Amino acid sequence: MAKEENNHLFFGGMDVVELAERYGTPLYVTDENKLRNNFKSYKNVFETTDTDIYYAVKANGNLAILKILASEGAGADVFSAGELELTKSAGIPAEKILFNGNSKSDDDLKEAVESGVRVSVDSVDELRALSAVANELRREVEIAIRVNPDVSPEVHPKIATGLKESKFGIPFYEVISACEESKKLPNIALTGLHCHIGSQILNVSVFSEATEKMMDLIEGLHENGIELKFVDLGGGLGISYRKEEKKIAPTPKDLAKAILPVFEKKMHELGINLKLVLEPGRSIVGATTILLSRVNAVKQAYKNFVAIDAGFNLLIRPVMYDAYHEVVVANKVNERASELYTVVGPICESGDIIAKDRMLPEVERGDLVTILDAGAYGFSMSSQYNGRPRCAEVLVCDGKVDLIRSRESVEDLIRNQKIPARFI
Ligand code: LLP
Repeated sequence: MAKEENNHLFFGGMDVVELAERYGTPLYVTDENKLRNNFKSYKNVFETTDTDIYYAVKANGNLAILKILASEGAGADVFSAGELELTKSAGIPAEKILFNGNSKSDDDLKEAVESGVRVSVDSVDELRALSAVANELRREVEIAIRVNPDVSPEVHPKIATGLKESKFGIPFYEVISACEESKKLPNIALTGLHCHIGSQILNVSVFSEATEKMMDLIEGLHENGIELKFVDLGGGLGISYRKEEKKIAPTPKDLAKAILPVFEKKMHELGINLKLVLEPGRSIVGATTILLSRVNAVKQAYKNFVAIDAGFNLLIRPVMYDAYHEVVVANKVNERASELYTVVGPICESGDIIAKDRMLPEVERGDLVTILDAGAYGFSMSSQYNGRPRCAEVLVCDGKVDLIRSRESVEDLIRNQKIPARFI
């Protein structure tokens, strides 16, 4: 993944030990070239079909990252008014933004209509509320219906989103009647169907299954005289977090092979043309970023612990999904892994474990532990738990570095808090 020199890890042409000294730790480091290449590999593979790639902003909403993706031609999947604002300020055009979400307030709906973006409608209740909001604003809004396709990917249950029991979308069997209702509602223009079946999917056959189901719905609508403009199949393509997964992790090309034959065959049969929309998050940003962290203590107890300065406040994935991230001692990359360690964070919870039972070179206080593949759902899911200001982020490119988010300070913990006058 990276060049190694002087026993140091290099990333984006930069010695990460120097980066840690210059910017402090913990520190998220993103490689611009990797980011551009990841996006381009989607674009290239889907070039033969009319496809738009809507980057899933929830994976990593840093503005510099959004700007880079905007310059590559990305659209955006946003899940809140906040993500919509970020996306707009990064310069992604409204016609390439889909406002998703299963619980949108009237203010969210208003913001979506006023911004002129499309809305993925998650329930019939929302559909009626959106029509009322659009009426009030005297504007038409384009919508997609979010489908719950009842497809089961083999992923952690917390990141499967298209199961029958999942909270997202309108049940498969009610989609046609929801579409029919939308046709009758004022200021609603139904233009698409949308689904997203889950995340970190390594077996692409479920994407074929989801495409089949979505295209069956398109056929059902076609038979009822309802023609659409696009089908959005969501994101979900997995990446290789473990070295062993490198060989099996699917690429955008594998995704295209799973989706396109099914998609194109049905369009051909029906004599229609639809735009394909995809919403990748993790597969665009996951491998672009590392998290640098300093070792504060090494303890030989019932287990060998390495206590670092980044915990689930900055990377919650290991705790929340039992997710695996490779860890590397960045200042000892050429040393032999000789000891078994459990790498833990600084948070006051036993569950704050970043990496369990890993063979590493002998670790000492002051060493630099680097957590790999931390670009997706890393910083974006961070918190200030235990009174820890969030860390800085930098962008590296061909040996150059830019700060893309300042480290928070203790001031940021206090800023919005108010002490009632009677206590002062
Ligand atoms: N579209 C929709 C509607 C989604 O809900 C998501 C992710 C995506 C696209 C992007 O999926 P991706 O390509 O990144 O798999 N925090 C979890 C993942 C949650 C995914 C939520 N939805 C994790 O760290 O594994």
